[in-house]
Amino acid sequence: KPTAAPFVQPDATLAELRAAAGACTGCDLYRDATQTVFGEGPDDAPVMLVGEQPGDAEDRQGHPFVGPAGKLLDRALTDAGIDRSRSYVTNAVKHFKWIFTRGHKRLHQTPRTVEVQACAPWLEAEIARVKPQVLILLGATAAKSLLGSGFRVTAQRGVPQPSPLAPRVVATIHPSALLRMANAEQRERAYAAFVADLRAAVADPP
Ligand code: URA
Repeated sequence: KPTAAPFVQPDATLAELRAAAGACTGCDLYRDATQTVFGEGPDDAPVMLVGEQPGDAEDRQGHPFVGPAGKLLDRALTDAGIDRSRSYVTNAVKHFKWIFTRGHKRLHQTPRTVEVQACAPWLEAEIARVKPQVLILLGATAAKSLLGSGFRVTAQRGVPQPSPLAPRVVATIHPSALLRMANAEQRERAYAAFVADLRAAVADPP
């Protein structure tokens, strides 16, 4: 089975992990990606946010959540009273998985479970270094990576999950899901629910 484990040095600092991840070939996704996109933020951040994988813009720029989903996340974090600059932002998978469309655009592909599992040692190492008080999982990929394949975001979103990973672990939707909603009213309702989940996640810190 593919795994990043041999690249993850047990005693490495966050900065050393970031450098090592740049050379990860633990699964095949590095082949088609421009670069590794590792997590970013203070190494003592009280809040950690985990997305799925870098998108097209993240793959080109080398930073997490800087494209359209990132802009929407920024707005939601502001509306929820969360300071992104004081949060650690990362992804379950560190390389962009995509295919060419016939229009030669790079189309995002959801990573397979084996790929998510292969990359999990990086995510687990980030959590172990940062030790966030609040861990917010954005979407099913991040939630299943850390809480198991049986986890259902739709049923359990916003509900703190008992987990050894952090004092509070909460899953919610992925901001990209909002971008896919064509109906403006539906999108606004879903955005408000997303902000409410984020706000509740950091309320009365455990
Ligand atoms: N979507 C994600 O899940 N992560 C990113 O970094 C960008 C888009």
